[in-house]
This record gives sequence, C-alpha cells and structure tokens, in this order.
Amino acid sequence: MSKGLFITFEGIDGSGKSTQARLLATLMRDYGDGVIHTREPGGSTGAEDIRRLLVEGDPGRWSPETEILLFTAARRDHLERTIAPALADGKVVISDRFADSTRVYQGVARADLRDTVDQLHTLMIGREPDLTFIIDMDPKVALNRGLARNSGEDRFEDMGLQFQIDLRQGFLDLAKQFPNRCHVINGNQSPATVSGDIQTVIESWLL
Ligand code: ADP
Ligand code: TYD
Repeated sequence: MSKGLFITFEGIDGSGKSTQARLLATLMRDYGDGVIHTREPGGSTGAEDIRRLLVEGDPGRWSPETEILLFTAARRDHLERTIAPALADGKVVISDRFADSTRVYQGVARADLRDTVDQLHTLMIGREPDLTFIIDMDPKVALNRGLARNSGEDRFEDMGLQFQIDLRQGFLDLAKQFPNRCHVINGNQSPATVSGDIQTVIESWLL
C-alpha cells in the first residue's frame, strides 16, 4: 500500500489543467520537497515516446481500440517507473491526466468502449487517485485556447467542437460515478481564482 498522496487533474483540452497542476506543485513544494509533477500521456521515458505516437498526426491515425492499448501501455510504464515508486516513498504525486482521460476520451467520446477501458484498467493499472480535480469549462473557449498554443500536439483538438462538448459531458458524468475523489472546479475564472477553489478542497480533504 502506498503512503503518499496521488492527485490528478482532468478535463477537456485547453481547460487549464497544466496551469493548475503547475501552480499546485509550486504551492505544495513550499511545504516540503516531496512533490512530483508529472503528466499523461508521458511522465516516464518510454511513455513520452508513446506520447508522440498519440498526440501528433492525423485524427484518424489510430482506431479507438488501438488508442486504448497505447494509452494503457504508456500509463503502465508511467505507473511502474514514476508514480508507484514516488508514492511508496511518501511523496505527493500531481499528474496532469490519468485513467479518467481514457474512460472519457476512448470510453465515451471516441466510441462506446467504457467496458473495455475498465477491464484493461483492472488488469494492467488497478490504481485510482486519492483526489481528482475536473476543470470544467465552456468547450468553445477551451478549444480556442488549446489551438492558440500551436503546440503541434493537436490530434485530439482536430476532432472538432462536438467532440469537446461530448468530452465535457463525459467528465461531468464521471464525477457523479466517483463522488468521493472527483471535484468539479469552475474553469471559467481567472487562474488565481481556480487555484483558490482547488486549495479549499485540498485543505478540507486534509483535515
Ligand atoms: P490544458 O492543460 O487543460 O490543456 P493549459 O493549462 O495548457 O490547459 O491552458 C491552455 C491555455 O489557456 C494556456 O495558454 C494557458 O496559459 C491559458 N489559461 C489557463 N488557465 C486559464 C484561465 N483560468 N484563464 C485564462 N487563460 C487560461
Ligand atoms: P494533453 O497534453 O493533456 O492535452 P491538452 O493540454 O490539450 O489537454 O493530452 C494529450 C491528448 O491526449 C489530449 O487531447 C487528451 C488525450 N488523451 C486521451 O485521449 N486519452 C488518455 O488516456 C489521455 C491520458 C490523454
């Protein structure tokens, strides 16, 4: 059993997850140096290699089924090499996305494959975060923010606005399925206000 604290950020593309994960990591480091800030797909050398296959190129490059396998392979490596050792060491792990992204992107929005996602998760990952922040916001604004970054990693943004609308609903439904760990945060606010809302949840969770 791990002793650390595992926090994840989830939500649609461009909703502000990376910004908030970074702010929280900085804030928590003020209270100690045992904080790991990581991301998915990625977070370990092998998983970062798999990331490039997933986020670059044509939207139709992979089927939803193949995506489930690739995201889960990346997650397994991330878990084995980065997350599990840090938690065993009593550290705080803050991850920008984790298994909930596969549940919603591949299990709901790309295709109706939630059972397959869950089975593979049980078989290969078998770990849930202690706390999950779902940054909820207007899909149109988030999509424009995401595309404006011009990151070259727009394969999922290129699936269009309706895809982001379906994702948003998928994340809100997911929050109802896991009410103990999932907290929906209003992302249509300044970064400082969003961060304040997140800190309030963490403070009451730690009490
Ligand atoms: P995500 O990781 O969810 O894709 P990012 O944190 O990378 O989102 O944010 C996407 C873009 O929006 C970035 O350019 C970021 O600076 C900006 N941004 C993040 N949070 C906010 C906010 N609360 N208000 C306005 N812009 C924001
Ligand atoms: P990310 O870099 O977090 O994208 P963004 O900053 O736009 O939110 O994640 C890369 C993309 O991979 C993103 O569009 C969501 C997608 N994704 C899945 O489809 N399934 C998954 O399991 C994960 C972790 C990410």
